[in-house]
Amino acid sequence: MAHKTKRETAENRETLEIVTLGNDVLRQKASPVAKINAETARIVEALLHTLYVGKGVGLAGPQVGLLQRIFVVHVDKDIPRVFINPSLLETSEETVKYEEGCLSIPGVWVQVLRPKALRIHAWNEKGRSFTQDADGILARVILHEYDHLEGTLFIDRLSETKRNRILAKIEKQQRA
Ligand code: NI
Repeated sequence: MAHKTKRETAENRETLEIVTLGNDVLRQKASPVAKINAETARIVEALLHTLYVGKGVGLAGPQVGLLQRIFVVHVDKDIPRVFINPSLLETSEETVKYEEGCLSIPGVWVQVLRPKALRIHAWNEKGRSFTQDADGILARVILHEYDHLEGTLFIDRLSETKRNRILAKIEKQQRA
């Protein structure tokens, strides 16, 4: 998920190419990470670096063409968080609207309705299992990134009218 934020980043790190709307990889369901090992740690580092370069707050495997169930989240003032093979255990009935963007759909910002809070289980890059409760912006970003693992984009969560309006706008931008 994109967010209007500024963060410094280190040089000499691997920056992955972010795929954008229209690339079929964004529409596929990601597969579980079979083994959490040194390669996974390398992927996590590259995802986080790419997230910082893109000035985003969340980035999922499919967004860099990696169809694995893995995403990273780093919202302002929080610590970076890594979610591997996540399961959403609970989402609140209470929903809330919040402005979202996506590094794979640049330049689009729109209010999206989602559950306000959640409980998620996942593994981190060290292979440690954890359960996390989240609400506010953290919950928002986790839900947005989790959707990427299912091939779902935030524009899918809008009314058809609103989605078509946005798609038309994107098409116009691409032609310009
Ligand atoms: Ni996104």
